[in-house]
Amino acid sequence: MDPVRWGFLGAGWLVTARTADSLHQASNAELTAVGARDAARAASVNPARAYESYQEVIDDPDIEAVYIALTNDVHLHWILAALEAGKHVLCEKPMTMNAAETRIAFDKAAETGLMLIEAVWMRWHPRMRHIAQLAKGGELGKMTGFNGRFTWQTADAAPPGNYRFFPEYGGGALLDIGVYPLHALLSCVPDFNLLEVTASRRHLNEHGADLTTDITLTWGEGTSAGVTASFEQPATESMHLTFERGEINSLDNEGFCSWRQPARVKINDEIEIFDETDAYQLMFEAMSNRIRGGDDWVLSPAESIKVAELVDSSVAKAN
Ligand SMILES: NC(=O)c1ccc[n+]([C@@H]2O[C@H](COP(=O)([O-])OP(=O)(O)OC[C@H]3O[C@@H](n4cnc5c(N)ncnc54)[C@H](OP(=O)(O)O)[C@@H]3O)[C@@H](O)[C@H]2O)c1
Repeated sequence: MDPVRWGFLGAGWLVTARTADSLHQASNAELTAVGARDAARAASVNPARAYESYQEVIDDPDIEAVYIALTNDVHLHWILAALEAGKHVLCEKPMTMNAAETRIAFDKAAETGLMLIEAVWMRWHPRMRHIAQLAKGGELGKMTGFNGRFTWQTADAAPPGNYRFFPEYGGGALLDIGVYPLHALLSCVPDFNLLEVTASRRHLNEHGADLTTDITLTWGEGTSAGVTASFEQPATESMHLTFERGEINSLDNEGFCSWRQPARVKINDEIEIFDETDAYQLMFEAMSNRIRGGDDWVLSPAESIKVAELVDSSVAKAN
């Protein structure tokens, strides 16, 4: 199979520290171009071509798929531009700023017949796939609760001035890290369409970006879940699921972002260990295979839209 020719928009932390290398490691993909405001930074991740604008990547006739790793406020603009230019799109989480924008993006993808996928890399991790399968499979009985926490201290989260602290760029803890436990929850409940936000508490910074968001959700016959995202609490990345006959606990405080290291999960009294893996690489490989006609699993539009709706409800219901 010919490798899929990828173009990256942006060369910020994620691309330079993680995803460019993961794409280079992928068996069926090549990094044909990267565009960044600083072409030298784009070139530093070793693409075949470096551009100093995002549009040049999209206009490059060799590019088949575009990966967007820009600040969240401009995701929709570049999704639409790439789809209109006939490219498949993988866009970093959160897909856009809200559910209305996310629907516009998926409507355009449907109209063009191209793939649009939200890059929630955790969802490709074999441990997350296993937890979701177990949760839905009924082996432990009905799911009776979920608690997911993704928290950092501001000083570790990002340097001052980073877009994460400004709402106009799509900053805030909920959009940045809260979407991980929300996506994890969706992957585990029997019918994610039933999930509803019942309460939300937010602590905002002086610019109006949330430093902490605590959400309570329910589904089915009132089963409840808690999700916390914070830039001002000690670092945790944990998932705890309870069932009629047992529980599942992520271990090691890397429940959502285990990268190139072994991962563990505790299922009742048993600890299961997963070999080290790179879920970004698995994500690029799965989408590249799909582009070439394979049937690899990819995250569905319905799940991305539902997470965006839950984010909107958390903002609307905040007190
Ligand atoms: N999946 C994950 O593990 C993961 C981890 C971190 C972040 N993310 C997501 O990836 C995206 C980028 O995050 P990051 O951590 O790489 O952020 P970052 O280091 O702050 O980089 C910001 C990116 O946005 C671009 N940008 C465009 N206009 C900008 C402006 N006016 N001010 C600042 N930046 C601007 C920059 O472009 P240039 O390169 O052209 O300068 C850069 O590529 C976000 O959507 C975030 O949610 C995902």
